[in-house]
Amino acid sequence: MICKPTRENLARAASLLMKGDVVAFPTETVYGLGADATNEGAVKKIFEIKGRPNNNPLIVHLPSFSEVQRHLSSLGNNKMVDLVEKLSVFWPGPLTVVVPKLNTISSLVTGGGDSLALRVPKHPIAHTLLEMTGLPIAAPSANLSQKISPTTAEHVLDQLGDRVPMILDGGQTTIGLESTVISLLDPLCPTILRPGAISLESLSITLGITVASITTTGREDSSLAPLASPGLMERHYAPVTTTKFLSSVDLWSLPPIRIGLLAFREGLHLDFDFAAIRTVSANCNLIEVAHNLYSALFELDHSELDLILVDSCDESGLGVAIMDRLRRATAKDW
Ligand code: TXA
Ligand code: MG
Repeated sequence: MICKPTRENLARAASLLMKGDVVAFPTETVYGLGADATNEGAVKKIFEIKGRPNNNPLIVHLPSFSEVQRHLSSLGNNKMVDLVEKLSVFWPGPLTVVVPKLNTISSLVTGGGDSLALRVPKHPIAHTLLEMTGLPIAAPSANLSQKISPTTAEHVLDQLGDRVPMILDGGQTTIGLESTVISLLDPLCPTILRPGAISLESLSITLGITVASITTTGREDSSLAPLASPGLMERHYAPVTTTKFLSSVDLWSLPPIRIGLLAFREGLHLDFDFAAIRTVSANCNLIEVAHNLYSALFELDHSELDLILVDSCDESGLGVAIMDRLRRATAKDW
């Protein structure tokens, strides 16, 4: 059920979480499906509802950097804690750090692995839930496994329906793409596992060392990515409708099928008879493209099309994350 974030509903959501139930809530990136990270029964519900393979670890959300520090105090790895401290300038915000697993967190959360992903979200609703419960909250994106991440409460309802007792409605999320995930497991070589709104360049500058990226160094080797991060499977973030890059097809030789267009700028291919067009930005402003991308894909996927064609952008800054998601959306089924 979709609920407005009134004081009463926030209190109800907090009590659902504290008694081991799940709640969907907005963050500044995408909507999350949250549960108490210290309660194995609660975490199991997340995997069941999403249909997520249980070797795919979850991100644990904490209310502040000082809570992160408190959790990391048992690690005794000063070099790594230093790096997290430097990166804390991006918190609260769309950055997730991968550190060695902590004893306080169930191995269900970490997908059976030895590492743990941590994030301090910025959205006031997410923050209120973390403060009210006092719990670390495990939350993947609130979509079915491998489908489009939700950027509105209605997207969550469409995919997860009444399997979630409560969906807190915070309107459309601001950023629109999932957080940047950076692994600090090798403190000498921090590595981006998933690009997002915090770019490789700003991470490198902040850390004072060159940050690597598995999406540029390892993605072509399909045996590498799933090992580093099981969630980085090739086909992901995908509409049900076949989706291709506009630049990869010869528009004029396609058979007479219903084709939809996702455009990054106005006036693109208006001479072609598209069955549906969604223009996510007037002039390829990447912040707008990211903000509207999943909503547009979601709408096109619900427009009874045979094919969705998507625009592309330069792969710099936020463009890296946008093109990463679109490449996954257009990847063929294995
Ligand atoms: O913006 C976000 O990060 C959203 C909001 C709700 O916070 N969450 C999100 O979670 O996108 P999820 O589960 O949909 O994606 C998390 C990604 C997955 O690809 C997962 O495999 C990876 O992070 N991940 C989680 N823990 C990891 C770990 N310990 N080591 C490597 N990758 C990890
Ligand atoms: Mg996800």
